[in-house]
Amino acid sequence: MHVAGLPVDDPSVPPMGLSQFRGWWASGFSGNPMQAWLATDDSGEPVGGYALELPVRENRANAFPFVLVSPSRRRQGIGTALLIHAAGVAGGAGRSLLMSGTRMGAPGDAFAEAAGSRNCMLEARRRLGIDAGLRARLAGLRAQCAPHAAGYTLRSWRERTPPEFLDGVSAVFTALGDAPHEDSFEPEGWDVERLRAFEDTIAERGSRLYTVAAVSAAGELAALTQVEVDPGQPQWGWQEITAVLRQHRGHRLGLLIKVEMLAVLASAEPQLRQMATYNSMENEHMVAINDALGYQITDHFRTWELDVTAAIALSRAASVEA
Ligand SMILES: CC(C)(COP(=O)(O)OP(=O)(O)OC[C@H]1O[C@@H](n2cnc3c(N)ncnc32)[C@H](O)[C@@H]1OP(=O)(O)O)[C@@H](O)C(=O)NCCC(=O)NCCS
Repeated sequence: MHVAGLPVDDPSVPPMGLSQFRGWWASGFSGNPMQAWLATDDSGEPVGGYALELPVRENRANAFPFVLVSPSRRRQGIGTALLIHAAGVAGGAGRSLLMSGTRMGAPGDAFAEAAGSRNCMLEARRRLGIDAGLRARLAGLRAQCAPHAAGYTLRSWRERTPPEFLDGVSAVFTALGDAPHEDSFEPEGWDVERLRAFEDTIAERGSRLYTVAAVSAAGELAALTQVEVDPGQPQWGWQEITAVLRQHRGHRLGLLIKVEMLAVLASAEPQLRQMATYNSMENEHMVAINDALGYQITDHFRTWELDVTAAIALSRAASVEA
């Protein structure tokens, strides 16, 4: 159902591989507990479903649903019936607010609006073509950063964080809480246990994870960037976290680690042709880095909020067995 919907839901990216999709619906992308529900019609045929993330550390009043309806069964009220069901589950788990995101112009966007959701943040997805032109520009970008980043050294690794950097990586993940976010979203605090659990979910999805870090002269992990490659779509690299600790900002470390990441990927993943990244429109510094690298906007995404009580009160035109 997800793949069949992509030509209208999200046509500018290829379908994720099956193990990636399974990981998303089973474990989520952030390591929080998930519930997955499937809806069938009277004949037992699947018509839709939803994945519901129910965080247990921060955001305990929030739930994050992703509602999906088979393209051939849309506009019959099934999506609304699933949203009401998800709100019931969320309310039962003590949640009062549903938060989700949709691509602007996609059916999901109109659906969120029709449900009476409040629009919160605007994000852009950008794409970078990996070609000879980009490779030729990397040395120049690196040279621009060098005088500002004197005293820092770069480290890179694959998959799990080396033990000596576990605390440092946790601190940088926590620092990402500074990035623009919705007022009702509580930034996450990271520790080693949470980081290892998160790495486990990436490994379970079968993704390849690359990390580049900048380390200060005093040995502190100052900046970090990660890219995930889904073997099901090996020409695409998905930018995950990039963050610089507050006390190390102003040294062009954000650009430098992303340039180094492209060099790492050129040898480890020579088949890569595209990189994709999501940024809040308000995140000027990260957007400036992505502009310098040559990223171009392909789509905009909106985040939405809907009170659980308001979702439960929506009128139901279809009945589903979930
Ligand atoms: C979003 C989605 C779940 C909607 O499922 P659905 O069963 O078609 O939704 P409903 O029939 O309950 O639609 C309810 C209302 O939303 C609005 N809506 C839904 N799809 C729309 C579209 N393509 N264009 C305009 N309005 C739309 C309409 O107001 C509709 O009421 P109406 O049909 O009486 O006019 C479905 O399009 C989908 O699976 N999209 C991909 C996943 C996604 O983006 N999910 C949203 C993130 S939570």
